[in-house]
Amino acid sequence: MTNDLNRYFDNAATSWPKPEAVYTAAEKQMRLAYGNPGRSGHTHTLASDRLVYQAREAIGKLFNIKDPARVVFCLNATDALNMAIKGCLQKGDHVLYTAMEHNSVLRPLARLRREGLISTTMIPCNDEGFPDLDYLENAYQPETRLLVVNHASNVTGTLAPLSKIIYSAHNKGVKVLVDAAQTAGAVPIDVEDYDIDMLAFTGHKGLLGPTGTGSLYVKPGIDLTPLREGGTGSQSEMDVHPETMPERLEAGTLNSAGLAGLLEGVNFLLENDVMSVRRSETELRSYLYSRLQEIKGIKIYGPRSAQDSTAVLSFTLEGADCGDVGYILENSYGIICRTGLHCAPLAHQAIGTFPQGTVRLSPGYFTDKNDIDFLSGALKEIAELSTGN
Ligand SMILES: Cc1ncc(COP(=O)(O)O)c(C=O)c1O
Repeated sequence: MTNDLNRYFDNAATSWPKPEAVYTAAEKQMRLAYGNPGRSGHTHTLASDRLVYQAREAIGKLFNIKDPARVVFCLNATDALNMAIKGCLQKGDHVLYTAMEHNSVLRPLARLRREGLISTTMIPCNDEGFPDLDYLENAYQPETRLLVVNHASNVTGTLAPLSKIIYSAHNKGVKVLVDAAQTAGAVPIDVEDYDIDMLAFTGHKGLLGPTGTGSLYVKPGIDLTPLREGGTGSQSEMDVHPETMPERLEAGTLNSAGLAGLLEGVNFLLENDVMSVRRSETELRSYLYSRLQEIKGIKIYGPRSAQDSTAVLSFTLEGADCGDVGYILENSYGIICRTGLHCAPLAHQAIGTFPQGTVRLSPGYFTDKNDIDFLSGALKEIAELSTGN
């Protein structure tokens, strides 16, 4: 969607714009029948409760999760990842993770490691962001309990070979936590086909919902220790947190206005089909890649083929600081993007852009090719200035 005020290329951070129904549903939820879901039995709470259940069901449908009670609502992907990592690990466990992980995985693991609770091994990735599967095969230990994999890098868009990784881990009896922050809503995900143990995702990126929403899917049979305990509106006479899902992992009042918006984002995807979103984003990524390739001085990182990535592309410009490029793009052309390390320092080490980082462009479902033409024209002018050609 072209907007005179700005052209938005930061959908990997948060998607914008949202479908109109997302804005109206969030507002409607706050204005009408605003109750505390799951608490008491008056009409307002029951309406909120229904809405939360519908959101759980819609997410279940999107990812082929048969039991909506296994869809746990959280604040965002970071919250979901913390809940999964801290809820399943015990002292002495060993964890595998890839070099493309986000700080929302790296930092919780680093703290547990520093406290002497766990040990970890990083699976290296090549300069396109693909993990070394031979290294993985030799990295398992008798204590390995969990493998964490970023489904798609937020730096390069690189899609991890999920089926192969999960097959390998399950062969060794290791559970897999998939960080789908970049792929939920952008790439079709069927938790049964992939045999995913835990899927962490955020509501405000590809699912097109508001910030402050996210979720963790936990496969039946996996029991996580709750990250937080408290009010659930059920079994209030007891001082132990309920065992039943999803309450076991959800304490405190849910973000019902956010979930009302998220439900509409997910409904939009169910109506339009994630496969067709994927097709249109793949086309945009290919077009963006080809336009950037024409510009002298630009070096593109990540997979050449859009089939191997999401609609994310990182680049550097010879002789120019990434932050300066982002600043000029916004202030001279009204183009929004993200620069720096994108909370993924090891990914930048893998692709050779640490510590300066990259300029990251992430078109979304509502971006059109005219926006990309405008962007490449702007970059051409900036490149001419910076390289002196
Ligand atoms: C791969 C990846 N994981 C996790 C996150 C964290 O998402 P959130 O900020 O919604 O918690 C992000 C956000 O950029 C991400 O790209």
